[in-house]
Amino acid sequence: MKNILVTGAAGFIGCNFVRHLLQQEPPVTVVSFDALTYAGREQNLTPLPSANRHEFIRGDIGDGALVQRVLRDHQIETIVHFAAESHVDRSILGPGQFVQTNIVGTFSLLEACRAVRRPPSAVRFHHISTDEVFGSLHAQEPAFTEKTPYAPRSPYSASKAASDHLVRAYAHTYGLPVTLTNCSNNYGPYQFPEKLIPLIILNAIAGKPLPVYGDGLQVRDWLYVEDHCEAIWQVLQNGKLGETYNVGGENQPTNLEIVKSICALLDELHPQSPTTPHEKLITSVTDRPGHDRRYAMDITKIRRELGWRPQYTLATGLRKTVQWYLAHLDWVAAISSQGNYQQWVDKNYAQRSAPTEGKS
Ligand code: NAD
Ligand code: DAU
Repeated sequence: MKNILVTGAAGFIGCNFVRHLLQQEPPVTVVSFDALTYAGREQNLTPLPSANRHEFIRGDIGDGALVQRVLRDHQIETIVHFAAESHVDRSILGPGQFVQTNIVGTFSLLEACRAVRRPPSAVRFHHISTDEVFGSLHAQEPAFTEKTPYAPRSPYSASKAASDHLVRAYAHTYGLPVTLTNCSNNYGPYQFPEKLIPLIILNAIAGKPLPVYGDGLQVRDWLYVEDHCEAIWQVLQNGKLGETYNVGGENQPTNLEIVKSICALLDELHPQSPTTPHEKLITSVTDRPGHDRRYAMDITKIRRELGWRPQYTLATGLRKTVQWYLAHLDWVAAISSQGNYQQWVDKNYAQRSAPTEGKS
């Protein structure tokens, strides 16, 4: 596993994972491969520990010739595939790019692996998937296991489910050595501020409304990104080929609870905000169409077989995350001025607003 290609490395989880990889022993070399869409920034990869063992290549996973060249030139042994369109709201507004990147892009990457195959070895392919492929749970239903049937319900989760099926089909049909992880909602440093946790932090410190979709009682399982990176590393080292591992944070707060926790942390850590207490900013807005009610991950398998479990509680992870955003407002300013980010956020908010009532 000396030479590792990380797709989507300039995005949120990818850039955290590259940092994680470069700190491992024995040392590995890392090629970061990213198209730099609105969600990716090459600067997310600076500074890096042991940067001399890292190279960045700008490219599209759909460019088979380029991917094959990179695999050959860098003698890549393992691919960790993060590259995707990742935001559910965007998939509702425009599903086409999700089909293109997540399904066709993954297919193209798998084809490149097949083309460069050097018998008897082949490129090991680790695929990053999501708990959303399993659908939505009622309040009392048990958490998703690796055996839960797929039931994706948004264009995003359907595209991820399709890519998972392709990966398993290439393992079964062509003998490609694969592993998969399905994880829950990540949070932590470098998350693009269209997602709930960074959006709430940044709106709150700017004195803007904190949009809570519908009744805010939807439940997510929150995974601190460093815990996720270590889980993937464990699977790369000790996971069984052909297997899938669920990864989650062992917590199930409602969205409203998450938003209130962030407000309380900001009251303590950033009392100079224009509006305190920050909870006054919570605004109920029109729900996301087809909004999944509850996700929860059963992580028995990865605990039992690989000895991994999350090290962060929601309280410790959220505090670290809020502190990181407060200390990196320059990063926020840079990412917010990129592409059409602000127009997109404003459009998304406008579509949902006509606030129904304030909440506290
Ligand atoms: P992100 O949106 O922050 O980053 C995605 C990265 O992929 C960006 O850097 C983007 O430039 C790159 N990319 C997009 N299209 C590309 C293409 N055609 N070729 C090359 N690069 C391309 O996403 P994230 O939150 O870091 O998610 C990473 C992966 O983890 C995704 O596969 C996502 O489905 C999965 N996942 C994310 C979460 C989460 O909570 N964020 C949870 C479960 C699974
Ligand atoms: O569950 C794993 C998935 O988590 C990943 O596969 C996706 O890539 C990732 O984006 C994330 O999807 P979600 O839709 O769960 O994340 P998001 O941060 O967009 O929303 C989290 C919850 O908060 C969800 O119930 C919708 C709600 N929400 C979101 C936003 C952006 C709000 O109430 N208000 C908001 O402004």
